[in-house]
Amino acid sequence: MDVRLFNQLNIHYHTNENLARQLLPFARKFLSMPSKLTNTWDYKNTYTDLEGLALETELDFFVDYITDQANQYLITHNLKIKQSLKLSVSLFTSEMAEGDQHTAHNHPGALLSGLIYLNVPNNSAPLEFYSPRSKLTSWLNYIDELCYVASDEIFEITENHAIVVKPKNGLFLLWESWALHRVPKNNADERITMVFNIGVADADQL
Ligand SMILES: [Fe+2]
Repeated sequence: MDVRLFNQLNIHYHTNENLARQLLPFARKFLSMPSKLTNTWDYKNTYTDLEGLALETELDFFVDYITDQANQYLITHNLKIKQSLKLSVSLFTSEMAEGDQHTAHNHPGALLSGLIYLNVPNNSAPLEFYSPRSKLTSWLNYIDELCYVASDEIFEITENHAIVVKPKNGLFLLWESWALHRVPKNNADERITMVFNIGVADADQL
């Protein structure tokens, strides 16, 4: 029988501890600047739906890195943005304390979203992606969640078929912005990340 695949959640990931070490002092610097903090979602962060930290010239190297990764993602999955458009990066940093969390959401306005873990002490909260199948209780009740994927040091599947990403310093993640995800209650102080959204701008404005 023939099979055609129409959509699926692809999470690109790799570990770059040197990059995390390089970025952590920048994250701490911007997190200590009251003028940069927005504390959106009731935890410490510099989120903005504009370019945010992507406009800081000292982070140009990271914006280039993100753009390279995004282009690789698009090529891998045969995705092409319209010819009149160019990729545009929005960047922020966040620091979760014990008890902080981020409820289920996706990232409207972006194509790809991602993060790099810069400082994840023991008991730092993971990242959980929801499976569209878990909206249907019959799938939760009758299908063995372990058949989807074998657990390894980074990924795990929960009883409700969510995909859990276990954080570690230097882990870089990239996914399509429609994917519903959350950060459950965090159990450590100083869980520091840099988070980005990749959208578009008109080519003639860049
Ligand atoms: Fe998110």
